[in-house]
Amino acid sequence: MNMTLYHIALVIHIIGITIMAGTAFIDLITFRALCSARTTDAVKTVVLEDYLYKLQRFLGMGMLLILASGVTMMIKLHQVWGAQLWFRIKMAVLLLIIINGFVLRRRAGAALKKIIEKDTPVKINDKRWNSVKWSFTAVQVVQLVLFIIIYVLSVFKFN
Ligand code: HEM
Repeated sequence: MNMTLYHIALVIHIIGITIMAGTAFIDLITFRALCSARTTDAVKTVVLEDYLYKLQRFLGMGMLLILASGVTMMIKLHQVWGAQLWFRIKMAVLLLIIINGFVLRRRAGAALKKIIEKDTPVKINDKRWNSVKWSFTAVQVVQLVLFIIIYVLSVFKFN
């Protein structure tokens, strides 16, 4: 494999990161909008909840591009990067991103869907709502922090 293919993979890596991290950020903004619409506008709440559900697909697409391009780069330079500390820590953080972004995010989304479908959003009792709101926000903030950790590791390449 020549370096051109490696660089093409790196460009695809950055496109995947843009899609996935961008979607994670929009996910947070959309949820904030849903929180403020909840007590005033039932239709808007349901539309935003549906939109949040659709965003998950783009998280998956971004992850697929990141993984495919990351593996392609490793085929070329695995002996260099594979042995380095930053890369090993990055793989551990990647695992956390997958668990948080796909397993926990999906669970939080399902809980939100349930609470909105069951009750008119305006009537949702505050205790139940607060627990869904807390878990949703925690998943989203943790996801963004994990992305920042991976950026720092990948750019500084501590060894
Ligand atoms: C959420 C997941 C990931 C994020 C956010 C991420 C992010 C990044 C960033 C910001 C860079 C620096 C790009 C640059 O220096 O221009 C990078 C480089 C790199 N990534 Fe990832 N990455 C992820 C997953 C992976 C995976 C799964 C692999 C391999 C299996 C991988 C392999 C690499 C390699 C080898 C480089 C070094 C490229 C170079 O500097 O030549 N990454 N990554």
